[in-house]
Amino acid sequence: MSKLRYAGIISIGSAVPERVLSNADLEKIVDTTDEWIRTRTGILERRIADDDKATSDYATEAARVALDRAGLTPNDIDLIIVATVTGDMPFPATACIVQNALGADRAPAFDLGAGCSGWVYGLSVANAYISSGIYDRVLVIGADLLSRVTNWTDRSTCVLFGDGAGAAVVAPVEDGLGMLGFELGSDGSGSEVLKIEAGGSRQPCNHEAVDNYRNKIFMAGSEVFKFAVRIQGEAAERVLAKCGMTTADIDLMVPHQANMRIIDSAVNRLGLPPEKIFVNLHKYGNTSAASIPIALDEALREDRIKKGDTIVVVGFGAGLTWAAGVMKWAY
Ligand code: ACO
Repeated sequence: MSKLRYAGIISIGSAVPERVLSNADLEKIVDTTDEWIRTRTGILERRIADDDKATSDYATEAARVALDRAGLTPNDIDLIIVATVTGDMPFPATACIVQNALGADRAPAFDLGAGCSGWVYGLSVANAYISSGIYDRVLVIGADLLSRVTNWTDRSTCVLFGDGAGAAVVAPVEDGLGMLGFELGSDGSGSEVLKIEAGGSRQPCNHEAVDNYRNKIFMAGSEVFKFAVRIQGEAAERVLAKCGMTTADIDLMVPHQANMRIIDSAVNRLGLPPEKIFVNLHKYGNTSAASIPIALDEALREDRIKKGDTIVVVGFGAGLTWAAGVMKWAY
């Protein structure tokens, strides 16, 4: 075994579909209003994938951007992780489809399923491989097309979700920079409150399931809401404590972009001023595993992050799962 090394993100890219679905568009599909969606969620519009595109297409596009920005070629990549709950198909892994599309011939590839927490889980895996010396360059992609599994007759869920992908290249960085700690968790007793029931081994997809939308997202919204409000703040506090830090050390928090009220409650709990939170959910809705890397990419492009900044990422999702990480930004 090589000695422990610091691992960090050395570049980020993202890809979102061009097609925009506004709240006004949704008013024509279900019994809702722009006002209800704005005030209950903070979402103004979301992106919807083209009919001929799959999750791997956006994942590959985001990965290409990240590789270009890092000045790397696909052959430089040692491992590809795709965090997703909406892979191109149940198998093979979407990561393998991305690996082939990129031509990353040396890279093993696998998918990681932890709902909206998946990309931060993936970062922790990359961190473990790199700090232990097993791999040098890992692509961690979060990609989901939730529009494909949305029940477009259910107004309580269809207003929330959007499509997209974000990708990070993770590599060894200077000592003291990069990833400093993670707080991962799961509570499977909440597996029933956010799920796609049919299409797996317990309930294969049949006509009855399709007729009753059981191959689409089911969410007990208020249960998930209560969990999310509690866990976002708790997970952020715990990971900071593990790193010997407090909320005063945070330069920017990039939370999972699910609902403005959930983000606000975490912000209030942590006592963070608004300028220390990055929010872009008004433009994209909840893009599941893609939401944090897309937000990080935008924060970087808006010069909200500079080398050495303390960045906290925190997500929650189906499982139920949660994941928070602290990084000293490495570039
Ligand atoms: N338009 C108009 N009215 C609506 C809509 C809508 N789109 N959706 C629900 N309503 C109605 C309900 O029917 C209900 O009416 P009623 O009182 O007559 O029954 C009323 O609004 C209030 O419904 P609530 O569910 O209490 O609304 P709430 O304020 O809790 O907001 C929401 C609902 C936005 C879904 C909230 O519960 C939420 O954000 N939950 C968490 C969602 C989330 O973040 N999920 C992502 C998890 S991550 C992942 O892995 C996908």
